[in-house]
Amino acid sequence: MNLEEFVIALPKAELHLHIEGTLEPEMMFELARRNAVPLPWDSVEATRVAYDFSNLQSFLDLYYAGAAVLLHEQDFHDLALAYLERAHADGVVHAELFFDPQTHTLRSVPFSTVLDGLERACVEAQQRWGMSTRLIMSFLRHLSEEDGFATLDEARPHLHRLHGVGLDSSELGHPPSKFERLFAECRRLGLPVVAHAGEEGPPEYIFEALDLLQSQRIDHGVRASEDPALMARLAREQIPLTVCPFSNVRLRVFDTLAEHNLKTLLDAGLNVSINSDDPAYFGGYVAQNYIDTAAALSLSRAEIKRIARNSLQASFVSDAQRRPWL
Ligand code: HPA
Ligand code: ZN
Repeated sequence: MNLEEFVIALPKAELHLHIEGTLEPEMMFELARRNAVPLPWDSVEATRVAYDFSNLQSFLDLYYAGAAVLLHEQDFHDLALAYLERAHADGVVHAELFFDPQTHTLRSVPFSTVLDGLERACVEAQQRWGMSTRLIMSFLRHLSEEDGFATLDEARPHLHRLHGVGLDSSELGHPPSKFERLFAECRRLGLPVVAHAGEEGPPEYIFEALDLLQSQRIDHGVRASEDPALMARLAREQIPLTVCPFSNVRLRVFDTLAEHNLKTLLDAGLNVSINSDDPAYFGGYVAQNYIDTAAALSLSRAEIKRIARNSLQASFVSDAQRRPWL
């Protein structure tokens, strides 16, 4: 079995995936036409050429511009179903999707429109491919605490349809501590918490995500390797890191895949998984992330298996549901 066949055959969960980041330029242009929304680019090709990022912010600027074509329930459905079909082809048996309600409600798209479309696609994925899914509502950290509370209020009638909350967008200057009260309220409502930390931000932000937000996983977390005490804690407490190698290279966290610290994290005993983050923008879906990372870091098949197993163990499915895969 070659590496690609081996990777695709492994049952795996994708735990770090922004559904807005799966908007391929072809679909962006189709929805722009369908919804009569102007785009800043002339063609699909010009759009791909523009995806030359220098850091997280330069990506986010384009990511929010692209998301402007998403207006109707059908748009969110089509977006999510296309991702889920692609993930299924990569051997993903379970996917936990982040969505950013504020990106849409700020453009007057109702919260329920977003959720209805995503949820309908998730139901179809279960019926067609037996995939299980979770929806995680992510707060945009460049916006205020007050905005976050307003979004939580919009979400209140739908809490039974959400499986957790996350924290994403521009990290530097927006530490987890900014949202301590918002996340305390989310936990009080019974929502599990995850947070992006240590992508561009320092190890201190990872400590804050753990101690102030009680984050159950850390999204990215690669800068943990700068702090030995943090590394020891992440290993001891087996706090999952949802690592996204292509994203880290495209956003210049590491210069090349060969310089990525995923193997260092793995060797230190951390629960590391591989995820695609925003695959339409970063050059590949989850299986390609596994394949290229394994090749660049000379990962053994046992290590690749362990990463896939980590992803299932770190997911928000109960043991009874998880058992068939493990
Ligand atoms: N980091 C922060 N915010 C994001 C990302 C990311 O990698 N992708 C989409 N929103
Ligand atoms: Zn992310």
